[in-house]
Amino acid sequence: MSEDVFKKIVSHCKEYGFVFQSSEIYDGLSAVYDYGQMGVELKNNIKKYWWDSMVLLNENVVGIDSAIFMHPTIWKASGHVDAFNDPLIDNKDSKKRYRADVLIEDYLAKIDDKINKEVEKAAKRFGESFDEAMYRQTNPRVLENQKKRDEVHARFAKALNDTNLEELRQIILDCEIADPISGTRNWTEVRQFNLMFATEMGSTADGAMKVYLRPETAQGIFVNFLNVQKTGRMKIPFGIAQIGKAFRNEIVARQFIFRMREFEQMEMQFFVRPGEELDWFAKWKEVRMKWHQALGFGSQKYRFHDHDKLAHYANAATDIEFEMPFGFKEVEGIHSRTDFDLSSHEKYSGKKLQYFDPELNKSYTPYVIETSIGVDRMFLSVLSAAYAEEVLEDGETRVVLRLPSALAPIKLGVLPLVKKDGLPEKAREIIDALKFDFKCQYDEKDSIGKRYRRQDAIGTPYCVTVDHQSLEDNTVTIRYRDSMEQERVAIDKLSDIISDKVSMKNLLKTIGS
Ligand code: GAP
Repeated sequence: MSEDVFKKIVSHCKEYGFVFQSSEIYDGLSAVYDYGQMGVELKNNIKKYWWDSMVLLNENVVGIDSAIFMHPTIWKASGHVDAFNDPLIDNKDSKKRYRADVLIEDYLAKIDDKINKEVEKAAKRFGESFDEAMYRQTNPRVLENQKKRDEVHARFAKALNDTNLEELRQIILDCEIADPISGTRNWTEVRQFNLMFATEMGSTADGAMKVYLRPETAQGIFVNFLNVQKTGRMKIPFGIAQIGKAFRNEIVARQFIFRMREFEQMEMQFFVRPGEELDWFAKWKEVRMKWHQALGFGSQKYRFHDHDKLAHYANAATDIEFEMPFGFKEVEGIHSRTDFDLSSHEKYSGKKLQYFDPELNKSYTPYVIETSIGVDRMFLSVLSAAYAEEVLEDGETRVVLRLPSALAPIKLGVLPLVKKDGLPEKAREIIDALKFDFKCQYDEKDSIGKRYRRQDAIGTPYCVTVDHQSLEDNTVTIRYRDSMEQERVAIDKLSDIISDKVSMKNLLKTIGS
């Protein structure tokens, strides 16, 4: 897929009511977006899929909903006040600001692309006898590029780990990375920039308190750890899940809803015995990958990417990356956060945040495995994978969203063939009977063909057409989105045919527990 397809997906989102630019009539607000009538349904379904997979399928995972505003000391304790920074660099000619780490990552991705293209070309040339591993180990051009990549990568990882801003700049200069806009290499120094939004609580006269809009939902879970453990009589290992808004003053905000200033996270902190965290880390990696792959977009679209730079509190971390139209990108992070957060909150609050383990007969500060996924990035990955343009037999093209049925905003389109002769009434009768099971949409405007296209474009898996025969024998034509096949079925069988296929329950059953 290409940037071109990405542009089409962005305009499709607007045209069909999935995502709008925030404050559009005032020319928009950068990196802030609103979800429209279709978008909110898809987003809610994604959230439900995640929430149910956590709290229904795991007896030992419960949910909470903590406030966005929290005591400012929480962000001191979590390290966000001092260390939640991006290294930024400006191009003096274009006056544009970039994240220094992103410039270098993009450079590395370009070398990877070069290598992969070389390998693909050779695979075509040699056909079945091609030995990819051997080619990668022996081809001089591949080896040269790989060596260059490894060298830059090693310097980059070290510079990040040492927070060495001068070295980051030096890598950009040495790799001759140019500003994509001005094309020049006239760069400023690299500076750190804190990403938290701050506001004031209380009136200034009384001495207002500086508070932050939370940059992650996780801290609301940590500070409620004992409340939940005690009131829920939870035994370790157990998890607390939360879905909610987070805010980051992203400087390089681009790629639509991939990097936003206001976004939503689905986070789960799993509290375990110290020493058992790496086993649980491996387990949650597997569980979360299964959750993604159950959507049926193909396992080749996902990969793990282990972190080059481990945060000071983590002893293992990986991302689940998804192949977006602009390359493999992080959708979810899985982190083994040790006891850093709980211990730090103990220190700053002066309150004990320990667990008494009856089996071990001792108290300890639990270790934590975190799974953290952005709702909006998940939304973008689902849309990118589902979006397809097809040329049909009659030469016409159709745009179809091949959404997993359980996630589709509308499950059934109900279309009377004509707007008269009692067909609209019959169609409404069908909706009235089915609306308790799933979301239906009535549409009587334009030809049936056009109406099918509209439903395809929003990903509706089923449509039924009500015609004159329906009045006589209570049957309708059902049409399937993906195959476009049609068949005649009894109206009273519709619930049986559709309910199972669109149910969240059946999607959840594919991942078990
Ligand atoms: N509590 C851990 C944490 O917040 P993170 O890797 O910074 O970790 C987790 O964020 C997830 O949140 C990311 O994998 C991504 O899906 C989402 N996310 C982070 N920043 C985002 C942004 N500016 N816009 C949209 N989603 C974002």
